[in-house]
Amino acid sequence: MKLIQGNSLQGTIHVPADKSISHRSIMFGAIAKGTTHVRNFLRGEDCLSTLHAFKALGVPIQDDGEVITIEGVGFDGLQAPAQALDIGNSGTTIRLIMGILSGAAFDTELFGDASLNKRPMNRVMMPLREMNAQLIGANDTEFPPIKIKGGQTLTPIHYQMPVASAQVKSALIFAALQTKGTSTIIEKELSRNHTEDMIRQFGGEITVTGKEITIHGPQELTGQEVVVPGDISSAAFFLVAGAILPNSHITLKNVGINPTRTGILTVLEQMGATIEQTEIDEANQSATLTVQTSALTSCVIEGEIIPYLIDELPIIALLATQAHGTTIIKDAEELKVKETNRIDATAEELQKLGADITPTEDGLIINGPTKLHGGSVSSRGDHRIGMMLQIAALLTDEAVELENPEAIAISYPTFFEDVETLVNGATL
Ligand code: S3P
Repeated sequence: MKLIQGNSLQGTIHVPADKSISHRSIMFGAIAKGTTHVRNFLRGEDCLSTLHAFKALGVPIQDDGEVITIEGVGFDGLQAPAQALDIGNSGTTIRLIMGILSGAAFDTELFGDASLNKRPMNRVMMPLREMNAQLIGANDTEFPPIKIKGGQTLTPIHYQMPVASAQVKSALIFAALQTKGTSTIIEKELSRNHTEDMIRQFGGEITVTGKEITIHGPQELTGQEVVVPGDISSAAFFLVAGAILPNSHITLKNVGINPTRTGILTVLEQMGATIEQTEIDEANQSATLTVQTSALTSCVIEGEIIPYLIDELPIIALLATQAHGTTIIKDAEELKVKETNRIDATAEELQKLGADITPTEDGLIINGPTKLHGGSVSSRGDHRIGMMLQIAALLTDEAVELENPEAIAISYPTFFEDVETLVNGATL
């Protein structure tokens, strides 16, 4: 498709609900006892994969278009699905559900789309096997389809994580909840903590001391009222657009500001953008964010901040193309195993538009500022690459053609409408 053009953005939008919290709201609702209501659930394809998987596991889930109602069945109330579970493109669904289903009484099989079937699963399967789970990848590899053997009694684990990953941590926490005894999980770097927060919200217990998590099982959780805040990872595209486009002023309502997710705000501020936070709702960890055109300078992004902005690195790379100086992103090798290899995808697609960007083993080096030009690019089936390229297209005078724009519906089905709203806001 031909991407939307318009070289400044103004106005107010509500970004869609948080993807990580939406997935977990269904999972916790299912494994709790009693009713859970979820408001502002993200109806993007990834979260719908989670919803359909739990329906197939016998959990009563109703969506009236406004509220999702889940009648929780507990871990032991899950039922054998009639067929293999189709997880689509969703890494979060497949990894977290492995932790849930490893202790089930029945066998399951999980498969994904072409991208998911190439993503590494040993990071979850190996520690789960230490807990007595039986999982096997396709042809004995670590890749989906994954078969999980039921009827295993899970045992507690003491595990030092070799990767910084909230998905691995969360899968192990779900498995630990089903054991008899105490598990300890030590993170490589702190990562998003929604699973820990939601265990407490659902009446469970978990102790976090620095990078060490202690959790005992078995625990029974109780259904809750969940209101999902907006996704800062979706807001990030407009935070960057507002900072790099001339004459821009954007207000984003109800954005999640859990401190394990706000690395993008730290980087924007470090590079010279001012992000104003108003209407802060402490209970829901959300706020209204306002950004405007800013003079930007380069920076180095490395170390412990990386997990706090891992999904934002493609759009941060675009930000860096408009900043004065050399921006260096390192310690981000995890980008290679996302929906695409995001180091290569970001560098190669932005190079097509004239960016001065070089991929490295663990990140990117970007020189700016550069005037981007038109061209033909591809999302490569990766929602975040597609959205980053649409924001890049707003900087060009010539047309930009995007291959495979549909991928954006994974996390932000109304993305192009929101771009239109803000482009038109500029002409008012
Ligand atoms: C997620 C964790 C991150 C992130 C993904 C969502 C989660 O993945 O990239 O989009 O909801 O736990 P990793 O745990 O693989 O870093």
